Amino acid sequence: MDKHTTLADKLAQAELGGGQKRIDKQHEKGKLTARERVHLLLDPDSFEEVGALVTHRTTDFDMQEQVFYGDGVITGYGTIHGRLVYLFAQDFTVFGGSLSETHAEKICKIMDMAVKTGAPLIGLNDSGGARIQEGVRSLGGYADIFYRNVQASGLIPQLSAIMGPCAGGAVYSPAMTDFTLMVENTSYMFVTGPNVVKTVTNETVTSEELGGASTHSTKSGVTHLTSPNDVACLQQLRDLLSYLPQNCEEKPASLPYELGSEVREQLGAIVPDNPNVPYDMWEVIEGIIDEDSFFEIHERYAENIVVGFARLAGRSIGIIANQPYSLAGVLDVDSSKKAARFTRTCDCFNVPLLVLVDVPGFLPGTDQEWNAIITNGAKLLYALSEATVPRITVITRKAYGGAYDVMNSKHIGADFNFAWPGAEIAVMGAKGASEIIFRREIKSADDPQAKLAEKEAEYAETFANPYRAAQRGFIDEVIYPRDTRRKLIRGFASLENKVTVLPKKKHGNIPL
Ligand code: HXC
Repeated sequence: MDKHTTLADKLAQAELGGGQKRIDKQHEKGKLTARERVHLLLDPDSFEEVGALVTHRTTDFDMQEQVFYGDGVITGYGTIHGRLVYLFAQDFTVFGGSLSETHAEKICKIMDMAVKTGAPLIGLNDSGGARIQEGVRSLGGYADIFYRNVQASGLIPQLSAIMGPCAGGAVYSPAMTDFTLMVENTSYMFVTGPNVVKTVTNETVTSEELGGASTHSTKSGVTHLTSPNDVACLQQLRDLLSYLPQNCEEKPASLPYELGSEVREQLGAIVPDNPNVPYDMWEVIEGIIDEDSFFEIHERYAENIVVGFARLAGRSIGIIANQPYSLAGVLDVDSSKKAARFTRTCDCFNVPLLVLVDVPGFLPGTDQEWNAIITNGAKLLYALSEATVPRITVITRKAYGGAYDVMNSKHIGADFNFAWPGAEIAVMGAKGASEIIFRREIKSADDPQAKLAEKEAEYAETFANPYRAAQRGFIDEVIYPRDTRRKLIRGFASLENKVTVLPKKKHGNIPL
């Protein structure tokens, strides 16, 4: 066999991973192979593989007799929308995609390249966890990856797709990246699996219930996005990257856009006259942004706040919006965490923030207090106060109490604050306020109910409007809903070169 035939042979073996039988098994489960995923994810013909001929070095348990080129992970680089990305894809057909010392080294090498070149890192996870035959060397390999995840955090976007098992400590790498995506029914994530759960807590639970895509997209919020199959998941990765820059030194790419009148009459017909009737904040978002450009994150988790990316006149922006349709748009533990995390992600990667406010306040109750609404609400307050990207607020209706301050008020550094004419900005709702400050007057009245109604109306007349705030300059302008898009386009354009100099320190101490 000449030298070239040897190479061709080895590459063909690397191409085949753990062999045709195991590939067929992967397909039977409804999953693509690692190689198929890489080719679907990247622009056609752009993949350059690195380390295809790496093999493990283990001799324990006669492992030297089972050697596969690539050692269960495909690594390399390519392009998405013509822009460089580094990636790894775990190959379940080789030792269940388990992570050996060399498998980890391959991932670390690619992570280092991504950081050096300022390009996003994508991990396609499909693994039985630590390579059991390698013991602590495998655990060390995980820790090497975790350490790099943290060093790369905030420098380059890191995206993790979970496309099969991801269990034990392995979950902590995706958890430390910017986004986690899961494929429904074929992926799961948990720290301890159903068997251990049964032994320790006597709960009977399936893998899907414990850590499937549905669980993590609704209950835990561990995953940001879910999709019905591998192909849709890979497309989501491509779409998501289009809103992000290559690294923290760059801005996200803009799409070409020619300005028109930008007036959107339909925005004036969304908020109902009765302040207690809910409406869908999605309609406001869609009315403001470029057509079909909303890319929602955490869609089914903490639905009382909506977060996601969109485009405004071709520019990428992040949106945080109270959702009156769910719990009246109140702020609670989960919605505060969700919005805080999104704020920090946008701030890392120079994505300007638009905050749409219709918030009656924080959710009362023992459940909230005992689950630390104080600390969690503070996360959002801290994250927004700290963010230096361009920040614009539009109050569409209610902005009450502490939630007014938290939701990107002028006082915590927002650049422009607008309110629609029907906005109510006050310490609390008119009824609650009247019951407290006019208590004696109401009690001694001949008709207490009528007195309460009178005082309520008086309070509402005085405070439930945006003009007091506008007089103080806390609101820059009261605008007609139809003009919102135009104001925002101009506002963000004027903030394009915003510079904020922060005090010198090691880092702040966000209440985690
Ligand atoms: C070595 C592994 C492996 C592992 C699977 N395989 N997991 N080899 N180390 N961790 C091998 C299997 O022996 C099998 O080899 C092939 O991969 C496919 O596995 P199957 O069991 O046939 O597949 P399936 O039925 O789909 O089940 C998948 C699975 C199961 C649920 C992931 O394989 C499993 O429970 N594996 C062990 C998971 C685990 O306990 N990992 C350690 C977690 S602790 P053959 O030759 O038969 O095809 C951990 C700590 C990390 O990861 C800590 C970081 C800090």
